[in-house]
Amino acid sequence: MEKEYWPSRISFVFAAIGSAIGLGNVWRFPYICFKYGGGAFLIPYLVALFTAGIPLMILELGIGHKMAGSAPKAFAGTGKKKEWVGWLACGVGFIIIAYYAVIMSWCLNYFRHSFDLSWGFGQETQEFFHNTFLNRSSSFKDIFPLSPRILAGLAISWAMILLCIWKGARSVGKIVYLTVPLPWICLVIFVIKGITLPGAEAGIAYYLTPNFAALADSKVWLAAYSQVFFSLSVGFGVMIAYASFLPRRSDIVNNAFIVSLANCGTSFLGGFAVFGALGHHASKMGVDVAEVLGSSQARGFGLAFIAYPSIISTLGKAASFFGAIFFIMLIMLGIDSAFSLVEAVAAGFIDKFKARRLRVNFGIAFVGILVGLIFTTRSGYYWLDIVDHFMNSFGLVAVGLLECVVIGYFYGTGKLRDYVNSKSEFSIGKWWDVMIMFVTPVVLGISIALEIKDRIFASYEGYPRWAEFAAGWAVVIALPIVALLLMRAKERRPV
Ligand code: PFF
Repeated sequence: MEKEYWPSRISFVFAAIGSAIGLGNVWRFPYICFKYGGGAFLIPYLVALFTAGIPLMILELGIGHKMAGSAPKAFAGTGKKKEWVGWLACGVGFIIIAYYAVIMSWCLNYFRHSFDLSWGFGQETQEFFHNTFLNRSSSFKDIFPLSPRILAGLAISWAMILLCIWKGARSVGKIVYLTVPLPWICLVIFVIKGITLPGAEAGIAYYLTPNFAALADSKVWLAAYSQVFFSLSVGFGVMIAYASFLPRRSDIVNNAFIVSLANCGTSFLGGFAVFGALGHHASKMGVDVAEVLGSSQARGFGLAFIAYPSIISTLGKAASFFGAIFFIMLIMLGIDSAFSLVEAVAAGFIDKFKARRLRVNFGIAFVGILVGLIFTTRSGYYWLDIVDHFMNSFGLVAVGLLECVVIGYFYGTGKLRDYVNSKSEFSIGKWWDVMIMFVTPVVLGISIALEIKDRIFASYEGYPRWAEFAAGWAVVIALPIVALLLMRAKERRPV
């Protein structure tokens, strides 16, 4: 099989940025930031970026480039019996894509609703999202009927993903010229609109004022670390696979910094649009910014589908136009993140089993849709919330921790650093070894331990224990087992 390469350096940078910048920046970042107190969140977020995000980005790009293969192949190259770490990363990525595609389906549906603004005004948007759109049940057990419109959106999302990756790096390398800059332009328009709305200052002050007391809360730290991983797409094998398609002469450190800073800069910039608009909303309602979204439901997972529409509906005649642009922007942001996840998982199977690309892609889509069905049910919202929380708090953090251990204590940080430096214009110093060997694994280890402790005392969001087990613990336990089985499966030799 012929080795794949990016058509040009810039297409790699665009593809990596496209993978990193996604719904995580516009849907997940603001809601996590709001949930943990606005300005209170920014300091842990920045610390997490520099102590874990960027070092791991360098690690993933370095090892992907050096071993010239997907995550399982790259880890197999670091030593016997390490391949499963790569499969674990792919497993976490697969679960995430199964629900990420469902959120893209929500976006597609909301794009359609923006034409007649059927989501309503102000507080009605919350009612619309939960009752009319999701038809949400109050019980986890209510599954039927599945929502036909969410299912249809899911099928369209997967069809778009498959089309984009039809020819692997070659087609991806071209599509990202469109899906990266266009949403950026839309975002800048939204930021300008957001900060010029009357009353925006209060929201922006809420966003930017640091709250040092919150730094004592371990939950804020865990949320910041997992958001940085999710947002940078590290811990899923994506950056490893993408770096493996780079030509042998490519700058690694430069690329790692460009991708990481562009991504986090986008989240930070997007925050101005969201918090400006929230400030505007709060001043209209005569309440504090912290109170503006009312119930905790509106502040949580559904923020993008409640807060944004309620803000958009205040724009008078231009509301439909801005609504449509906003949701197209979300779809474009999501698509290159979604296909990067599929590419990473597919690359693992192609490398090890010499499987044909199209067959693997269709297989992943088929299983992805099957798993995604649960999220299209009347209780899908809750299932999604649990899976997202467990995958981010345990899956991602565990993969990050294992990557540090494998490179730090088995392969050798010095060896990888020398390789990375030999390819890069700017060298990384010993600080990187310290991060990978001590700082990152210690912080991640503590985060996991604290999260386990919390989950022993109370279930996530007070959800029933059986549901938490089925969608959370069972997946967390099953993934390493599947990863070990895949490692032991017989490799197919090229014919
Ligand atoms: N980084 C993407 C986002 O912020 O939306 C999500 C994502 C894409 C996570 C690809 C992981 C990944 F491998």
